[in-house]
Amino acid sequence: MTTYTLRSANPAKTRCDAVVVGVVQTPKGVELADGGDEVGKAYGRKLRPLLASLGVTGKTGETVKVPTSGTLASPLLVLVGLGKKVDTVAVRRAAGVAARSVGNAASVAVALPGGSPELVRAATEGHVLGGYAFTTYKSGKGKKESEGGAPGEVVILSEGARRKDVQTAFEEAQVVARAVAVTRDWVNTPPNDLTPPAFADAVAAATKELTKGRGAPKVAITVHDEKALAELGCGGILGVGGGSSAAPRLVELSYSPKGAKHHLALVGKGITFDSGGLTIKPAGSMNEMKSDMAGAAAVVQATYVIATLGLPIKVSTFVPMAENMISGNAVRPGDVLTIYGGTTVEVTNTDAEGRLVLADALVRATELKPDVLLDVATLTGHMVVALGDRVAGVMGSGEVVDDVLAAAATAGEEMWPMPIPEAMTERIHSSKVADLAQHDWIRWGGGLFAAAFLREFTAGIPWAHLDIAGPSYNSGGAWGHVTSGGTGVAVGTVVDFARALAASE
Ligand code: BES
Ligand code: MN
Ligand code: ZN
Repeated sequence: MTTYTLRSANPAKTRCDAVVVGVVQTPKGVELADGGDEVGKAYGRKLRPLLASLGVTGKTGETVKVPTSGTLASPLLVLVGLGKKVDTVAVRRAAGVAARSVGNAASVAVALPGGSPELVRAATEGHVLGGYAFTTYKSGKGKKESEGGAPGEVVILSEGARRKDVQTAFEEAQVVARAVAVTRDWVNTPPNDLTPPAFADAVAAATKELTKGRGAPKVAITVHDEKALAELGCGGILGVGGGSSAAPRLVELSYSPKGAKHHLALVGKGITFDSGGLTIKPAGSMNEMKSDMAGAAAVVQATYVIATLGLPIKVSTFVPMAENMISGNAVRPGDVLTIYGGTTVEVTNTDAEGRLVLADALVRATELKPDVLLDVATLTGHMVVALGDRVAGVMGSGEVVDDVLAAAATAGEEMWPMPIPEAMTERIHSSKVADLAQHDWIRWGGGLFAAAFLREFTAGIPWAHLDIAGPSYNSGGAWGHVTSGGTGVAVGTVVDFARALAASE
């Protein structure tokens, strides 16, 4: 495991296998970024021609390796592009790129712009996450090769290293980044190994580990199995989970520190595999559907981070887990399900399963009368069509949506507001046989229809819905701090939302 330390040392004199420095595109040409000044001085006038002959442009994602042959204490200088603007977004990405660029270095010094707590946080999170690799299922040689990427020691250099706020940001960044990494692990785990019972067991084991020992964070867990779900009357979760030979679960976490002034409820979609059910998906769309539990993984890990940081708010987390499969017990189009609390829903498309399991969980959450409610879900392909695969859509009560967007900005996650048009609500109330229609086969604005459906179960509590169908899974190659596969999106945003809530009146 890599250890991270924070120091205010001179990067030119820091003895490591490699030292990382940023390069910025300025109107005057490429320049070393803040943090790299001493490295620039060590090279002196030779630096400009060196950068020119190496063809360094400073653009985002670029890395150039330079042997230092005695100029610096470290034998290798790694230049990473920051683009035109030096901010937390650029630093988080560059640190991620840097983490992958030095495959076999045992020790690395990161001298990126680090004058503020926000920049140190970005560099730390970026480095931890950019170096992430999922190797659990790689045997033999492949495993060793990918493991070679993690250095033993990483030193984050910052001129503010002696400041308390910078040190706190550095410590907390590691907590957040490790939670994001576990979220990625859960998303990347093959669906034959992460069935609903296995996922619930994994959450129970993680909760036990987190809370063991004196002074450990206090998080309580309840796991409802299929029998308990039947007793509760969670018809959405049982209906969706009915087609699978692996039974569904509802996991509930509670973090309730003394003197908490606010109560946040979290709900996350935990479909461990989404075949579409009888309204089956085409093969190409089914490919990555092990990632349909990314919202569940994110809210669980965010809950752990909030508890670990000791934020003075109460958090109640609800995670419905089911596998959407086909069998003689699968839910059919035309079936009517009774959601927890009694609302009946006519199922018309078994592939719109997320809203059914979320409905049960949302009603459970509202019973506790939280001040604010967030749900995180890989809910619709419509949101991916609208916003692409790097941006999440946020819908719900105006002020909560604004707070989520503000939190996303500090966490370095891209999110965008989407409306819930009134006409959607009329369509939801159009079922001829049940209280609500789950779907109506009109394609347009399907992501907004889904949000309108969820709102029916929020009991008027201030609420926001984060549709992370796009950014939860990276089907392509790594970019910045975002590696291939599960991304762990929304952990950071939910944690920063909780921080702001904890700091509010
Ligand atoms: N899990 C999918 C949504 C999804 C799509 C996630 C692409 C990640 C990437 C969801 O359950 C689903 O199937 N949604 C349907 C909704 C439709 C039937 C209203 C969709 O997107 O087509
Ligand atoms: Mn589906
Ligand atoms: Zn789904």
